[in-house]
Parts: sequence; structure tokens; C-alpha cells
Amino acid sequence: MEFTVAIDGPAAAGKGTIARALADRFGFAYLDTGLLYRAVAAKGGDPVQAAEDLSAQDLARDDLRTLAAGQAASRVAALPAVRSALTDFQRRFARTAGGAVLDGRDIGTVICPMAEVKLYVTSSPEVRAQRRWREVGGDLAQVLAEVRERDARDMGRADAPLRPAEDAVLIDTTDMTIDQAVSVASAAVRARFPERTTP
Ligand code: C5P
Repeated sequence: MEFTVAIDGPAAAGKGTIARALADRFGFAYLDTGLLYRAVAAKGGDPVQAAEDLSAQDLARDDLRTLAAGQAASRVAALPAVRSALTDFQRRFARTAGGAVLDGRDIGTVICPMAEVKLYVTSSPEVRAQRRWREVGGDLAQVLAEVRERDARDMGRADAPLRPAEDAVLIDTTDMTIDQAVSVASAAVRARFPERTTP
């Protein structure tokens, strides 16, 4: 059985938390597609070559979660040739037997426009910066500036800009707990997939 859940939204909105919870509850495979772009940027050299040669080992580096790696990722992610080198892998993953959940910026709009469930997870830049700052520390004002800068780059690029798919369920997590956000997301999956049992 193939079943794809596409989750898009800006940095630190809660996509990964929701995606992992859905993967757990419904037994889906999970792909954090941001990690692909982070690994391409971290590899250095020609980014298109890096995307074409990306290996599991590249994704296992322990320096991919930093703010700097996120900024570098959003720069290489604006290159159409990098995006197209990563497309087939993501599409194949999306059709994993047993179902898959992918989170990123263009999953519902470009990678899997036929996904059975599309979610667009967002929250205010201030709340997202707070969340990121709690994880990485440093200067909150600087973290907020970086969140805004990355939003502008991801939403403003010509190729696959971040935006909600027309048929996406919007989840604004600004005033939600994690449990509330996960339960809205789970309800959207169950609505399309009532026969899947959840623990
Ligand atoms: O989600 P994450 O913060 O790890 O993504 C890092 C960067 O990778 C994003 O800011 C975005 O520029 C890029 N990205 C993308 N398309 C995706 C996933 C991530 O362009 N599907």
C-alpha cells in the first residue's frame, strides 16, 4: 500500500515533530528532506555534483543541525539543478510500501503533488525563533534575524518557493501544544485513511 503525507512549512514551525509523530502512530517511513539540502551544502565543492553524489554517510554527519548549516542549505536549495538532482530520490521514498511522510518546503507543491494528505505547518517568526533559540542557544535577536532571512529566501526563490499547496490543511502552531498540533495532523490522516489503526 502506498500513502504519502506531505508536510511543508518554514523553519522551526514544528514540521519534524509532527512528521515523526505521524510516522510513529501510523507506521510510515519518515524522510526529513531538509537534511538532504543541509548535507549538500556541508559537503562543499560543486553543489550540483554534491547532490548527485549524495550518500547515506553524508546524511549521518553530526554538524548538519546548526543554524549555519540551515543558512547554507537554503542557499544551495535555490539552485534548480540541485533541486532536480534530489527529486527522484524523494519521489521514490514517498512511494515506500506501507506509507511515507516527508517534510520540507515543496513536498506538496512540487515533489508529491498527488500526496494523499498535505499539511502546511506554520507559526509566527517570533515563536519559531524562540523554539530554535532554546535548542541552539546564542543571541535570540540574531536567531530571529536568521529565521526571517531564511523565510525570505525560501519563499522568494524562483524555483519551488515555499508556499502552501492549494489543498493543504493549514496548521498554525503559534498557540498550540505539540499534542494539539499532532492531533490535528493525525485527524487529517485518518480522514483519508480510516482503515489504518492507531495505537
Ligand atoms: O527544514 P530545514 O530547516 O532542515 O531545511 C534547510 C533548508 O533546506 C531550508 O531553509 C530550505 O532552503 C531547504 N529545503 C528546501 N526544500 C525542502 C527542504 C529543505 O528547499 N524540501
